[in-house]
Amino acid sequence: MPAHPWWQTAVVAQLYPRSFADSNGDGIGDLEGIRRHLDHLEWLGVDAIWLSPFFRSPMADFGYDVADFCDVDPLFGTLADFDALVADAHQRGIKVLIDWVPNHTSDQHEWFVGSRSSRQNPKRDWYIWRDPAPGGGPPNNWIAAFVETSAWTLDETTGQYYLHLFLPEQPDLNWRNPEVVEAMHDTLRFWLDRGVDGFRMDVIHGIVKRADLADVDGGLAQMVDDRRYDPPEVHARLREIRALLDNYPGDRVSVGEVYILSTAKVATYYGDGDELHLAFNFPPLYAPWEAAKWRTRIERVQQELDPLGAWPTWVLSNHDNPRHRTRYGSEARARAAAVLLLTLRGTAFVYQGEELGLEDAVVPPDRVVDPGGRDGCRGPIPWTAAAPHGWHGDETWLPFPPDAATRSAETMVADPSSITHLYRRLLAYRRRSPALQLGELRLLDGPEGVLAYERSTPNERVMVLVNFMPSSVTVDAVSGDSWRAARIAISSAGRREGDAFDGTLAPDEAVILEPDA
Ligand code: GLC
Ligand code: CA
Repeated sequence: MPAHPWWQTAVVAQLYPRSFADSNGDGIGDLEGIRRHLDHLEWLGVDAIWLSPFFRSPMADFGYDVADFCDVDPLFGTLADFDALVADAHQRGIKVLIDWVPNHTSDQHEWFVGSRSSRQNPKRDWYIWRDPAPGGGPPNNWIAAFVETSAWTLDETTGQYYLHLFLPEQPDLNWRNPEVVEAMHDTLRFWLDRGVDGFRMDVIHGIVKRADLADVDGGLAQMVDDRRYDPPEVHARLREIRALLDNYPGDRVSVGEVYILSTAKVATYYGDGDELHLAFNFPPLYAPWEAAKWRTRIERVQQELDPLGAWPTWVLSNHDNPRHRTRYGSEARARAAAVLLLTLRGTAFVYQGEELGLEDAVVPPDRVVDPGGRDGCRGPIPWTAAAPHGWHGDETWLPFPPDAATRSAETMVADPSSITHLYRRLLAYRRRSPALQLGELRLLDGPEGVLAYERSTPNERVMVLVNFMPSSVTVDAVSGDSWRAARIAISSAGRREGDAFDGTLAPDEAVILEPDA
């Protein structure tokens, strides 16, 4: 097998620290809680974990408003807890990625406190300040995410507006100022020196705004619209960041949240192999449960990433969107989707609890806390069947997902037929299959409603069939090839593994087939 960096074949588990596991009984997850549950992740077989922000923060955006990039918020523990977590993970062969939030800080960050204090403050230009529009009011028509009001807030002290693509508590940094670039590079070095294996980079495509800060048609509610950004400048900053990472020993990786729903545009942020190592591929996360739509998503990756040598990524769920178990509406589909996620060509990201088949928590109005309406997917992980499910306090910060007892890790791990064991089998299979790890992907023609593809290296060939239909189908041949002699290596429904494939797929069933030797 050719030498390849570890992250190409990796399955990365995203952990949302507030909701993963609580070690001190305050109802909020923390770093020590994560460390104590690394055995679950090791048992599952993940290669790496990505931790959503645990830095000092007033938590207006639950940690994506950072008040100190180089310290742990007391809610989550201490730097010593972080070091212990990294050491323990590394001992188990699990890499650690952390979330880097370069686009903005908290309004409580000392940089912003200085910046807003006077027009002469040395940090003034570290953020984006503008005079009111000629007739008064905000400098342009940009709209902030979540609140959907102006992306500008007037600061009475100095009579100017500051820009925030997100909440008013999240002022945008001015990446045109070289001091900001240097200070943010220092924050990367701080964690690289502490041994992290890489970063997930928040809103990375938006860090430099267009120079004219001009109005855009219609005003914007979504970061997915990229008319506010200055791509050439962003690319220049990304090349510097890449050089910084590559100068460290080990394969330190960057995975960018390039939140643009065009695969062709996202591809440009890999640069010429000199920008991001990886970028999230979000359109599949929004794809409905339809074979044709998924086929298109795969074709786009083949057309727009592969020719550039840009390594693809796949993700079904995260902390910003309803879980795919909830979106797709059944466990059978969530299981089939897991086969898809873990057999496509690229790095796979698994969101905590999807391996338990968790649905979104139902959050009553009086417990809603997120201004962006994303509480449901952030419900705490139930560890034990008995309440309070491995948590301690009377109340966790958000309610548990439905069926917390029967979906607890304890219950699911004890049941070999559970979706959790399906994930584990898939991860183990992927780990020993060069074809699934690095092989080519060739789309095949199957019956209507069935997505079929082959993964191959010169020495290995496996086929994946995903039935997106609510009815069983018979597969006589795929691209003219009969696979009747093939063996079922894995079935999302857990049926007949090891047996010869009889050509039938159950409703919403996915299988991995191996040719019979
Ligand atoms: C990213 C994060 C999201 C956060 C936003 C602002 O989209 O995934 O959770 O609210 O950036 O930092
Ligand atoms: Ca806690």
